[in-house]
Amino acid sequence: MTEPGAGFPAPGVASAATGPSPAPSPAARPSPNIWEHPDIYELENRGVDPDGVLAREMRRIADWRGTRVLDVGCGSGFHLPMFAADAARVVGVEPHPPLVAAARRRIAGDAAGAGLDNVEVIEALAQELPCEDDSFDVAHARWAYFFGPGCEPGLAELERVMAPGGTAFVIDNDASRSTFGGWFRRQWPAYDHTAIERFWRRRGWQREPLLIRWDQPTRAEFEAVVGIEFDPQLAASILREHAGTGVDYAVNLWWRRY
Ligand SMILES: C[S@@+](CC[C@H](N)C(=O)[O-])C[C@H]1O[C@@H](n2cnc3c(N)ncnc32)[C@H](O)[C@@H]1O
Repeated sequence: MTEPGAGFPAPGVASAATGPSPAPSPAARPSPNIWEHPDIYELENRGVDPDGVLAREMRRIADWRGTRVLDVGCGSGFHLPMFAADAARVVGVEPHPPLVAAARRRIAGDAAGAGLDNVEVIEALAQELPCEDDSFDVAHARWAYFFGPGCEPGLAELERVMAPGGTAFVIDNDASRSTFGGWFRRQWPAYDHTAIERFWRRRGWQREPLLIRWDQPTRAEFEAVVGIEFDPQLAASILREHAGTGVDYAVNLWWRRY
């Protein structure tokens, strides 16, 4: 969850990513953490925000009960069930084929459980949404490195598909504060959080600065997750300096009403 927005140098898999990405879409923003380590990323998603701060704050700004929800860059679809539980319809968009397949498996259910029949997962890019104009009331993009400076085509698409009165959310790291923010700045020293803020504000987005927790059930799991988020040397320093299974984590919930 650490890579910076699209206006910054591509991460170039500077992280702990090792093996080749299976058939990445050339126009997709490289996301080595989830592309190369989907199983560890799944554990990470379970450990992020155990107190539900983000969901509570999003619901306060725009409750998605009974609405049409778009999850852009949905990855393996971790957040689709949360929306599906009370939205009328949910569409997940994801360009990386193995993650599209994983998200579809997640919503299909299994022999023991029913699937989510109000959810669809589409293989597509944020900048080429195969969706009709004015067709969503709520949009969500979490750890969406493909948004931010340089991603104007994706934002234009978002504007096109959002219905009047709809609300879009972008959840991103706040590198200016928290222990996690400090680790982020060590990994990306050129990251200019004030420029990122200017970028969003100029386009009419509002910021909710939030402080969440990231906590894994065991130290071994915490180490694995730190290992996919930071380059190996930095990950080793972090783990030498930082005890325990979790960390305080500042995030920005950016949102815009259309
Ligand atoms: C860090 S992952 C976050 C996944 C998911 N939002 C989550 O919270 O579990 C970023 C996702 O964005 C996808 N992505 C990259 N470039 C994209 C683009 N241009 N349009 C839409 N999604 C993109 C990646 O394939 C990856 O699944």
